[in-house]
Amino acid sequence: MTITSRSEAETRAAARQLAADLRPDDVVLLSGDLGAGKTAFVKGLAEGLGVPPEDVSSPTFALIQEHRGGRLTLYHIDLYRLEPREVGDLGLEEIVSSGGVVAIEWPDRWLDPPSDSVRVDLRATVEDEREITIARK
Ligand SMILES: Nc1ncnc2c1ncn2[C@@H]1O[C@H](COP(=O)(O)OP(=O)(O)OP(=O)(O)O)[C@@H](O)[C@H]1O
Ligand SMILES: [Mg+2]
Repeated sequence: MTITSRSEAETRAAARQLAADLRPDDVVLLSGDLGAGKTAFVKGLAEGLGVPPEDVSSPTFALIQEHRGGRLTLYHIDLYRLEPREVGDLGLEEIVSSGGVVAIEWPDRWLDPPSDSVRVDLRATVEDEREITIARK
């Protein structure tokens, strides 16, 4: 499914819709360039899961942020600064089997993500427009 978003609010709305269908241990891989809207999309997932979206930020020091209090716990992971060999030491397999929803930015650093992950690709087209492709397992 591909949609065109014309604002951050529209991107968040698309993510809220996806969140409604998410189940325990689901993994959402978010690809796209710097500033494409991956973190904005995670804020929408938070809204949809009932987690305060203002708690979601771009993880600077914390690679993994855990947000409780919603329908499902949301784990927000940003692998931007990691090399693939470092990702292996994070224990992501454990996190994705803990019953929450796991949203991962820069998932290309993770060489063997679960094959049944939801894949979200965000691509900037013009100004505030983003083409968002969501591929479900
Ligand atoms: N249609 C849109 N969808 C999402 N964000 C948009 C859109 N139009 C403009 N923006 C702006 O683009 C920026 C997206 O920033 P965001 O932090 O979500 O990107 P990111 O993909 O997480 O980047 P990074 O790789 O640096 O983590 C925000 O400032 C947001 O307001
Ligand atoms: Mg980000």
